[in-house]
Amino acid sequence: MSVVDLAIHPKAVLTRAGSQKGRAFPIVIVGHVDHGKSTLVGRLLHDTDSLPDGKLEQLKAVSAKRGLEFEWSFLLDALQVERDQGITVDTTQIWFTTAQRRYVIIDAPGHKEFLKNMVTGAAQADAAILVVDAAQGLAEQTRRHAYLLHLLGIRQVAVAINKIDLIGHDEARFAAVAESVRGYLADIGIEVSALVPVSARAGDNIAVHSPATAWYRGPTLLGALDAFAPRALPVDQPLRLPVQDLYRFDDRRIVVGRIESGRLKVGDRLRFAPLGREATVASLESWRGDGAVPVPRDEALAGESVAFTLDEEVFVERGALASNPDHRPRDANRITARLFWLDREPLKRGDRATLKIGTAEREAEVEAITETLDVENLDVATDHTQVERNGVAQVVLRTRRPVALDLHDIQARTGRGVLIRGPQIAGGLVIEAADRIAHDIVAVDSSVTAADRARLNGHRGGVLWLTGLSGAGKSTLAMATQRALFAQGRQVAVLDGDNLRHGLNRDLGFTENDRTENVRRLAEVARLMADTGLIVIVSAISPLAAQRAAAQQIIGVDFHEIYVHADLAVCESRDPKGLYKRARSGELAAFTGISAPYEAPQAARLVIDTTRHSAADASEILLDYATRSFAT
Ligand code: ADX
Repeated sequence: MSVVDLAIHPKAVLTRAGSQKGRAFPIVIVGHVDHGKSTLVGRLLHDTDSLPDGKLEQLKAVSAKRGLEFEWSFLLDALQVERDQGITVDTTQIWFTTAQRRYVIIDAPGHKEFLKNMVTGAAQADAAILVVDAAQGLAEQTRRHAYLLHLLGIRQVAVAINKIDLIGHDEARFAAVAESVRGYLADIGIEVSALVPVSARAGDNIAVHSPATAWYRGPTLLGALDAFAPRALPVDQPLRLPVQDLYRFDDRRIVVGRIESGRLKVGDRLRFAPLGREATVASLESWRGDGAVPVPRDEALAGESVAFTLDEEVFVERGALASNPDHRPRDANRITARLFWLDREPLKRGDRATLKIGTAEREAEVEAITETLDVENLDVATDHTQVERNGVAQVVLRTRRPVALDLHDIQARTGRGVLIRGPQIAGGLVIEAADRIAHDIVAVDSSVTAADRARLNGHRGGVLWLTGLSGAGKSTLAMATQRALFAQGRQVAVLDGDNLRHGLNRDLGFTENDRTENVRRLAEVARLMADTGLIVIVSAISPLAAQRAAAQQIIGVDFHEIYVHADLAVCESRDPKGLYKRARSGELAAFTGISAPYEAPQAARLVIDTTRHSAADASEILLDYATRSFAT
């Protein structure tokens, strides 16, 4: 008989306890391996009558038949096996109910993603139970997990001093262990609310006081849990809304995200960091509770997922952080963070990783490891070259482009992030300090600043990004404008998609991936050139909005999207290179406008319609725009 046969169906647990109304109180159970976390979970389910009828008897019968003494941890093992075999979808959450309220244990102990989920904030607990073996006392993982609770701001902690039966319910032994646990937790800033002598296996002091520990005057473990206060949702804090996605339905553009703090109302003015564009909320819908479809609202609060439209088509993309204009997040490119490192491969000074805060992702470099902490004795170590797996450190990260964030002490949800290396989440962090340092201080050629160059050239550097169909007139316009700017004594260059495809991009064709890479390289080169003070005119179809958004990410505030517009029919009739003809005949595949998509810009800085303007006029318009945009 396999272990699966022992399984209780977790859905049953879920429906039974989950049928009660209201938000469940999320808790996490942590502690050293073998100190009894799984047994405690089984016991909690039983003592709160949260198991489906007959399941316990069934498990016991099956154990007996197999000649095994029944263990409470079988319950959890059974769930774990189902999960591993993909029988159940979501067994990372387990519910139980006391007279007081419904609880959800987030991420069952032993789950291999457990630490990661804690660190990444996927698991948001309001309180924790720290399990400590009465005979063994504090062990390595006890300290590490406790430190993690502190790091994640979980301030309500009850300690279950477990296996009290194995030390003969000895009061003195209990007191000694309790004191050392309390002392350690106090040192890392956690005030424990209760230290409860329990036996998860025997049920001592879990739901009812045990006669075997008559000397104990404190609450039972469930009593200690029931005394915790639910964490208040940060409704009254400033609005923070990381943009998750944008959708287009008909001509409406819908912004989607989850309100991390504050509230959002129709009519609110929003600012989208880090670019700083502003617009007003025109309509609002939200998902509340388990609702499958969003419902129109006047107002939505922290914790809700929302979909809204804006009164203006400003540039917004995934990764932007919306706030009210007068309570903005910080824009930072130098971030001091307390890091919990998960990856097998240590993190070293100089390493690069992707920093993810909310929905924003940035390439980051580890500028310094300022402190590494030995969780065993809380000593600050002197080795500042690397952080080992499961190590805690203070690090300074540098991002090339600024990212919007908050300090963790002030706004917890937008004050933390993760580091991603390769496909993996490699560490979690909370932000302790953040500032913005002028770009040129980091650049290798920092001996000459952007301001120095602008002074010498009489104008700033930047990028005019010309997008449009083949034959719309991008190259003609780019060349004419370059000539005119040059004649005025400006430092100017053209990066033409066609031309670069002969050299740098000669390995690329016209699949979507190749075009995305083509656009990325153009953007990187354009950025380097703009950094050296040039006005760069890029001329490339760059057909997809996401490709241009990525270019904007690379180039930053000096990116100016210019839509060179002519209807497809006009482009086709012009057909300067005879390519439309070849595309129509099927000789050329994936030709933009014919057999590959073109997404017109929704919020270009400038639209130049080459069917309405002569080439000379068009160039005049762009020249005027450039002169204004790059003035010192
Ligand atoms: S992009 O889509 O990746 O931005 P890019 O601007 O570099 O394209 O190159 C477009 C030029 O390549 C066109 O002006 C045209 O001369 C040529 N070309 C050849 N095949 C195609 C195709 N299938 N689609 C579009 N342009 C093509």
